[in-house]
Amino acid sequence: MLKKIKTEIAYRLINHGPIVLITSIDKNNEPNIMTIAWTSVINSEPPLVAIAVGNQAYSQKSIKESKEFVINIPDKKLMKSIIYCGNHSGENINKFGTLKLSPLKSDTIKPPKIKECFAHLECKVIKQYRYSDVLFFISKVVYADVEKKYFDESIKTDKIKTIHHLGGGWFAETGKRFTPLKNVDI
Ligand SMILES: Cc1cc2nc3c(=O)[nH]c(=O)nc-3n(C[C@H](O)[C@H](O)[C@H](O)COP(=O)(O)O)c2cc1C
Repeated sequence: MLKKIKTEIAYRLINHGPIVLITSIDKNNEPNIMTIAWTSVINSEPPLVAIAVGNQAYSQKSIKESKEFVINIPDKKLMKSIIYCGNHSGENINKFGTLKLSPLKSDTIKPPKIKECFAHLECKVIKQYRYSDVLFFISKVVYADVEKKYFDESIKTDKIKTIHHLGGGWFAETGKRFTPLKNVDI
């Protein structure tokens, strides 16, 4: 039996891409970290992704000005940092220092990546769209790296658990990885 739900919570059915930590730098070159659930892959060649950043976020201003950010992918071990970076603004605090996270020089852009995250996508904004309180940054991935032991053709989700925001205060973690072509009889 199908249950009708409000369109305002329909996003929760497609919300569970991995939670990411976005690093950016402000006009004083201070690095900052914010938590983002609302990301989207747009294309593979050329590699394009998008993030939706609300007006409440200090990072929005920084990314608007510098046009650069890193998508850092945390695993379950960084759950506290995920919540902290999503509930505290970096306008007046240094989240790297508070959370004892280590900034690592990026290869192609100014904002640093987070050493404790197992994968990083360095991004340059190519277009931005505003609707109401949200800025949607469409960006080109200019460099990417990932911890070797956690990736072959895809993330080895049985070896590293990414975190997925379901909405309404709920989260999920990844589990068994499979490929239907090998494991399922059709
Ligand atoms: C689990 C989680 C997911 C979030 N996802 C987003 C998001 O997709 N877009 C957004 O604008 N804010 C999101 N936030 C809120 C920001 O992370 C929050 O406003 C943060 O304090 C901004 O940091 P800043 O002011 O240092 O940039 C999320 C928060 C949490 C806890």
